[in-house]
Amino acid sequence: MRFGVITVSDRCAGKVTEDRSGVLLCDSLKEHGTVDGYLIVPDEKEEISQALIKMCDEGIDVIFTTGGTGFAPRDVTPEATKAVIEREAPGISEAIRYESFRITPKAMLSRAVSGIRGKTLIINLPGSPKAVSESLETVLPVLPHAVETLSGNTLSCGGNYK
Ligand code: MTE
Repeated sequence: MRFGVITVSDRCAGKVTEDRSGVLLCDSLKEHGTVDGYLIVPDEKEEISQALIKMCDEGIDVIFTTGGTGFAPRDVTPEATKAVIEREAPGISEAIRYESFRITPKAMLSRAVSGIRGKTLIINLPGSPKAVSESLETVLPVLPHAVETLSGNTLSCGGNYK
């Protein structure tokens, strides 16, 4: 699988803070494929959308964003994602929120969305390293099948996936 990582954060983009969540994502994903794109963008809807489009055009299979999914006035990652996806994949974000809610009720405060543009799956994750690792645990097991079906291969849908 070819992964892309986009960190959405004014502070990381302005080099005020280190991007711990993006680095964590890259490190974790390397065990499951290659990380072929990594960008840090500020909480600006248009810049986030453009970064997503760029990675989709590059043929990335799955893009993870981290950050900007909450209620803060500048949190616009879900809106930037909705502007570029062609089909929604709500089950992914529902599952992440469901599993995360069992860990912290604050999971309700993430407005993250998931969806498909072309053959690329885009998944929003919250911004903290803790939330990133908890969310990845939920979603990683289904990614090989998600990418397989996105490419048009639906033959193994009846198989057992943990
Ligand atoms: N999900 C998990 N699994 N673990 C967490 O600690 N934090 C929540 C939520 N989702 C959290 C989580 C918090 S505190 C917020 S405010 C929202 O994600 C939004 O985070 P973001 O604005 O950094 O995207």
